[in-house]
Amino acid sequence: MVATYTDGDGEIPFNLQEFYEELPEIDLSGKVFGVVGSGDSELYPDAFCQAAIDFEKAFEATGATKGADTVKIENAAEDDDIDTLKAFVAALL
Ligand SMILES: Cc1cc2nc3c(=O)[nH]c(=O)nc-3n(C[C@H](O)[C@H](O)[C@H](O)COP(=O)(O)O)c2cc1C
Repeated sequence: MVATYTDGDGEIPFNLQEFYEELPEIDLSGKVFGVVGSGDSELYPDAFCQAAIDFEKAFEATGATKGADTVKIENAAEDDDIDTLKAFVAALL
């Protein structure tokens, strides 16, 4: 599972870049993955949660199976997001 915000203009945050770049070298066939992203759709409408979208694509290329739909959170998570996140985790387990 990866939880990531989006930095720059649709960029992977610095502290996740190495992991992201190494993903294509890993065979995760038979494994399950899930991605959560936070972002700001008002300031970045064309790159909302782009890092989460890019991680989803990178995991799919490893042969891993998506265990739950990618969750996109608007800015900091609020109470409304808790049920969504609980359902995400339940689907993954
Ligand atoms: C410099 C900067 C660049 C950002 N770029 C994006 C972006 O391209 N796409 C997006 O959806 N959110 C973008 N964001 C919003 C962050 O992802 C947002 O702050 C974060 O998801 C909310 O988490 P926080 O409450 O920890 O700040 C950016 C924020 C900053 C400060």
